[in-house]
Amino acid sequence: MTDRKKVTLPTLFKKVADGVPITWLTCYDYPTAYLQEQAGIDMILVGDSLGMTMLGYDSTLPVTMADMIRHTQAVRRGAPTAFLVGDMPYMTYQSSVETAILNAGRFMAEASCDAIKLEGGAAMANRIRGIVEAGIPAIGHLGLTPQSVAALGGFRVQGKSAELAKKIVEDAKALEKAGAFAILLEMVPDRLCKLITARAENCIIMSLGSGPDAHGQLLIYHDMFGLYPKFKPKMAKVFGNAGEVILNGLKGYAAEVTGKTFPQPENWFGMPDEEYNDLLRLL
Ligand code: KIV
Repeated sequence: MTDRKKVTLPTLFKKVADGVPITWLTCYDYPTAYLQEQAGIDMILVGDSLGMTMLGYDSTLPVTMADMIRHTQAVRRGAPTAFLVGDMPYMTYQSSVETAILNAGRFMAEASCDAIKLEGGAAMANRIRGIVEAGIPAIGHLGLTPQSVAALGGFRVQGKSAELAKKIVEDAKALEKAGAFAILLEMVPDRLCKLITARAENCIIMSLGSGPDAHGQLLIYHDMFGLYPKFKPKMAKVFGNAGEVILNGLKGYAAEVTGKTFPQPENWFGMPDEEYNDLLRLL
């Protein structure tokens, strides 16, 4: 484990004040969390994107609160000091403020989160307010919001026209006023992200595919390492092709087992002659 101090809200706001960009990645399991902790990543999002990246669904909609809690607990065990954000899955906050508070509370109590994230603009501001008033730090999510992908017409850039961009600016203000300490802007034009960041008063603006002028960046871990086979979004820089490394390893394993070159003596456990001879006698 690292000797880093726990990343807290004051740590994040200090980074903003010092002009140091915040690093944020998705993560869904213990070994990856361990590595992200070692790398000193500030924030970890256990996103409901795990429905696609880990469970193989075509969307995030089938993900349940139980799925999220189990994965978030594993991530917390691997990354004790990162600022851990639990992503509220589909229909765990949309129906009422009370439902939102109860599910946000589950994340905090059962998975030791530092904050929760939920999707949506002004229409979700009262959910954010309720959660924050219950003492739970909350993050908003605007732009491409995958839980509304059907209504948005697919995984595409949001806020390209002046009118739609104005709506996102207003939504961001509504979330900030409701008490969101941060807002994620996913796939909005860079200038729109810059504008919202400049107008934010006490709110951290994070970018996913929305350009460099936010207070920090988020990437989906599986996109960064070639681990999601179905598509690769433009915003996802591949920082290392782990998918290729693993595939080559798997092919090597299959070839060595088939060719009888694996296992070798260093890969198995022996038994002293005396014990073996006794065994034969016993049989
Ligand atoms: O679920 C998730 O990983 C997310 C990102 C797409 C931002 O919400």
